[in-house]
Amino acid sequence: MSDLRSLEVDPDLLLAFERGLDPRHPERSKIPARILGYGEISTVFEIQAPGLEGLACKRLPIFRSLEELEAYKGIYLEYNRVLQEEVGLRLPRYGFACLVDDAGYPLFYILQERLPPESIGNRALHLLSLPDVCRLVEQTLRELEKVWGYNRRQQEIQVALDGQISNWSIAGFDPERPALGDEITLLYMDTSTPLFRVRGTEQLNPELFLRSAPSFLAWVLRLLYLKDVVNRYYDLRLVVVDLIANMYKEQRPDLVPPLTELANRFFSGEAAYLEERPLTVAEVRAYYREDAMIWSAYLAARKLDRFLHARLLRRRYPYVLPERIRR
Ligand SMILES: Nc1ncnc2c1ncn2[C@@H]1O[C@H](COP(=O)(O)OP(=O)(O)OP(=O)(O)O)[C@@H](O)[C@H]1O
Ligand SMILES: [Mg+2]
Repeated sequence: MSDLRSLEVDPDLLLAFERGLDPRHPERSKIPARILGYGEISTVFEIQAPGLEGLACKRLPIFRSLEELEAYKGIYLEYNRVLQEEVGLRLPRYGFACLVDDAGYPLFYILQERLPPESIGNRALHLLSLPDVCRLVEQTLRELEKVWGYNRRQQEIQVALDGQISNWSIAGFDPERPALGDEITLLYMDTSTPLFRVRGTEQLNPELFLRSAPSFLAWVLRLLYLKDVVNRYYDLRLVVVDLIANMYKEQRPDLVPPLTELANRFFSGEAAYLEERPLTVAEVRAYYREDAMIWSAYLAARKLDRFLHARLLRRRYPYVLPERIRR
């Protein structure tokens, strides 16, 4: 398994990228880069420079000290190990790079083998037939069952996962012939939020999530939401609600009723031992409405925060924000 961790790059290549990066206008970077995805704490780049070909580089500008970065690194590597070796998920080949930018800020880059964009669940969804979409989601549920089955089998380590369809890539997917074979192999990509508890203790410092939050909101988020946000990734039922509710965001509301039914069959069938209550379409819809509202308000607050930093305080704002998220 060790070759899975084998991705290595010269950190100077990333430092050169960092020097030419304008977080406000990443497309104008001196070293050309394409954004593959936005996260709350990371931005995923494809950087067009010799030595970085074929990689997805996830940039995490959230650390205040090297100790924090080192702690994150250890947790990130352990999360990958547990998912792969203990839970039995498949991950893309991965690695990491640590650097300190010219202003003295430490940065962590997650490196992953870059997977074909059409193979990623939220893209494949639009190419597949309805029965194949159902099989894709069913396979996703089976992967989730591996995680929660593991959590059930032993008490020492409890692992959280974000089950959204955009976090999975279908191995060997051919967009020219968009059909699923008899066996579906999914790769899990979203390892930048390594949440797991060892004997009840959260390993990752959840404060890191608040780093990218506007400072004028951080205290209220800490007080009201942080625990809920973290806890929900440990709750299989909520993770599945989130997975299905995302179909609204993917502009496929038609999928919500059949997928809700599918999840309920799964909960009462092969995953019955996990004892989850059935879902309803109304609950999935209500969840989505609330979630969409919170995230768009939150993005607006981050933009205000960026404005405050850049224009008023004239301070560095290291995060790359999406222009607009289609909901
Ligand atoms: N290895 C990869 N190859 C190709 N595209 C990727 C890869 N990893 C991520 N992406 C793209 O970037 C998107 C976001 O990545 P990912 O899920 O890892 O982070 P996130 O959801 O933004 O997470 P977080 O909020 O935890 O930072 C993915 O949905 C996918 O479209
Ligand atoms: Mg994701």
